[in-house]
Formats: sequence, structure tokens, C-alpha cells
Amino acid sequence: MATKKLIIIGGEGKGGPVVACVQHNREHYQDFEYEIYGFLNDFEEGSISGFPILGKTSDYTKYLKNDSVFFVFAIHLIGKNKVAEELFNNLEIPRERFARIIHKSAVIAFGVKVEPGVVILAQSYISPNAHLKFGTLVMAGGIICHNAEIGPLTYISIGAIVGSYAKIGKCVSVSMGANVIEMNTVRDYAVIAAGAVVNSNVPSESIYGGIPAKFIRKIDV
Ligand SMILES: CC(C)(COP(=O)(O)OP(=O)(O)OC[C@H]1O[C@@H](n2cnc3c(N)ncnc32)[C@H](O)[C@@H]1OP(=O)(O)O)[C@@H](O)C(=O)NCCC(=O)NCCS
Repeated sequence: MATKKLIIIGGEGKGGPVVACVQHNREHYQDFEYEIYGFLNDFEEGSISGFPILGKTSDYTKYLKNDSVFFVFAIHLIGKNKVAEELFNNLEIPRERFARIIHKSAVIAFGVKVEPGVVILAQSYISPNAHLKFGTLVMAGGIICHNAEIGPLTYISIGAIVGSYAKIGKCVSVSMGANVIEMNTVRDYAVIAAGAVVNSNVPSESIYGGIPAKFIRKIDV
């Protein structure tokens, strides 16, 4: 299989772990499906995580012409995800040109649906029949239990757990170490604070935190 060139739209925060994943897969698992080409970033110049910044996000059109280039949208702004979504909506990149980046140490059980643009990092466990929608990022050690539905453009941070049959909406942030107990729904743009235990439904655009998780405030945008 020809190596695909990966362009990461974003910065160090979410893009750096994607670089680490691709490099680790290459160096330790001889998985050469992707090589990092570089970043598109509106605010920085030079390099990120040792790879060149190829241009601004709007420069994607130039790279789209090259069929061997694939993209990852690695911008997730906790509590400001309407901004990230708007940026994403400005990109006219066909869905099939978004890569699925999965660390070789992650376990993906039977029946799991992984849409394009999804990133699943090291030591994550995705249980049977879970559905990860377009552009969802599952950071290291994330656990998605069976039949859970996540995303699109949602962020499951390090060590977070989403219980079975839970439904997590679009552009949601489930922060590090948070647990969403099974069957609960977290609606669009909500933020679950680090370490929270969610045992009720969470309305859209709300920040919930604590054990059990309670309303903290509405998001800023
Ligand atoms: C939820 C979060 C976004 C809130 O950030 P913030 O708006 O700057 O919050 P503040 O620090 O101003 O706190 C606001 C209130 O929420 C409470 N709070 C903040 N984080 C909390 C948490 N994790 N659990 C419980 N309560 C929390 C604060 O105690 C404060 O309460 P008060 O108003 O009664 O004093 C932030 O705490 C968080 O969890 N970020 C996610 C970090 C993360 O996972 N990053 C990924 C890195 S890989």
C-alpha cells in the first residue's frame, strides 16, 4: 500500500499526540500507512512537533489536489467548540479525504463503527458496537463502552470513560478522567469537567463537573 501523506489541521495540543501516534505506529509496529507531511495552522509559523507548518488552514485547497494527501482535523477548543466547528465547516474537504488514525495498541472490538477523521490513541479500548462519528478524537487510555455513540467532532480526553449506550453529542468535551455512566446523554457543545462522574443527562452548551456531576455554568460561545 502506498504511504499516505497526513496533514494535521491544528496545533501542538491535539496535533502533537497525532504525530506521536503515527510515528509510534511506524517505528514500533512497522505500520507505514501514513507519514506526517505537516501542519496547517492560522497562528503559527515554522514547525510543530518537528514537522513543518505548510500554510494557513485555508491553504488546504492546494494540498487537496494531491490524491495521496489525507487530513486530520485536530482542533478542539474546550468550552469554545462552536468556533472549532465553524472553522471545520469552512473546509470543503470530502469526507473520504479525512484519515482514520488508530494507534496499534488500541483495541477496537467487533461491530465498532469508526467514521473518517476519527483519531484513537494508545491504550484506548473501544467496546463492541460503539459508534465513533466523524472527526471524534479519543485520547490515550479512553474507554468507550459497548453501544455508546460519540460525536461528531467530540473530544474524549485522556483516561475518560463513556458507559454503554451513552450518547455523546457533537463538539462535546469529555475532559480527562471523567466518567459518563451508561445510558446517559450529553448534548451538543457540552463540557464535562476533569474527573466528573456524570449520572444524569447533560443539556447542550453546559459545563458539568464534580461527583455526581452538577451544572457549573453555560459555555462562553
Ligand atoms: C471544566 C473546566 C473547563 C472549567 O474551566 P473554567 O471555566 O476555567 O473553570 P474555573 O476554574 O473558573 O471554575 C469554575 C467553577 O467550576 C469548578 N470546577 C472547575 N473544574 C472542576 C472540576 N474538574 N470538577 C469540579 N468542579 C470544577 C470550580 O471549582 C469553580 O467553582 P466555583 O465557581 O464554585 O468556585 C476545567 O476545569 C476542565 O475540567 N478542563 C478540562 C481539562 C482537560 O481535560 N484538558 C485536556 C488536556 S489533555
